[in-house]
Amino acid sequence: MMDGVAAMTPQELTEQVLAAHAGTPQPRLRALLAALVSHLHSFAVETRLTPLEWQAGVEFLTAVGQQCGPERQEFILLSDVLGFSSLVDILNAAPAATESTVLGPFYLAGAPKREMGEQIGRPQDGPPVLVRGRVRDGSGEPVSGAILDVWQAGGNGLYDTQDPDQPRYNLRGMFTTGPDGSYEFRTVRPVSYPIPTDGRVGDLLRAARRDHWRAAHIHVIVSSPGFVPVTTHIFDADNPYLGSDAVFGVRESLVRKFRPPGADDPADVDYVVNMDFTLASGDES
Ligand SMILES: [Fe+2]
Repeated sequence: MMDGVAAMTPQELTEQVLAAHAGTPQPRLRALLAALVSHLHSFAVETRLTPLEWQAGVEFLTAVGQQCGPERQEFILLSDVLGFSSLVDILNAAPAATESTVLGPFYLAGAPKREMGEQIGRPQDGPPVLVRGRVRDGSGEPVSGAILDVWQAGGNGLYDTQDPDQPRYNLRGMFTTGPDGSYEFRTVRPVSYPIPTDGRVGDLLRAARRDHWRAAHIHVIVSSPGFVPVTTHIFDADNPYLGSDAVFGVRESLVRKFRPPGADDPADVDYVVNMDFTLASGDES
């Protein structure tokens, strides 16, 4: 080396950058920054990242950001297809509660309150389904007055927010459990739908030869005062995309059979689904 001075090593540089952030006063932010610098540097070292690859990465992330706005969140989609959203869900799950899964981009607050058993969609949205079950606490006691906030896509694979032909709040509703913790609602059988692939996340999926389909599901947020709310899905056991869900949202414990009604079931539906939920005590987090 010139003048006998050794070149800086990657490790020396990483240590300098870590030291530059070590004085962050807020402890949690200090820990997050240290881990971020450490893992980011390790990524470059491990892959021997080239300047052209670094530049391509910056351009990719810039384009992802430019595709974000009030109607679209390409960064959340990127997080979803990399399994990062699901990972954060799993890390923060309440033990012994119903498994959670991704919220997704189509939740709309303020869905109409509906009566027990009411239908949330129109007849043309798909074959009618009765979904029913109970909400219980960690010791198996019924949770009365729990709220189920339910939403799903129509038979064309589109949510009301994506489809001008659907009335607002179509296939959405809030249901309340009875004194025995039971609930029921009518909807339609959900279909698989493609995640948006016209942006940079679509380029990524194509480069990796990956599927862009979500396994058919019904979204539910179950909540009650004094319990940790659960944001989850009910998946259709007969759906072909359970093993390749584009956002890694499938949990085996959330898959249910959409079965034909039996002699004791209502005759106005084509399928019946039983789904119980368990809530863990605690605060919203
Ligand atoms: Fe969805």
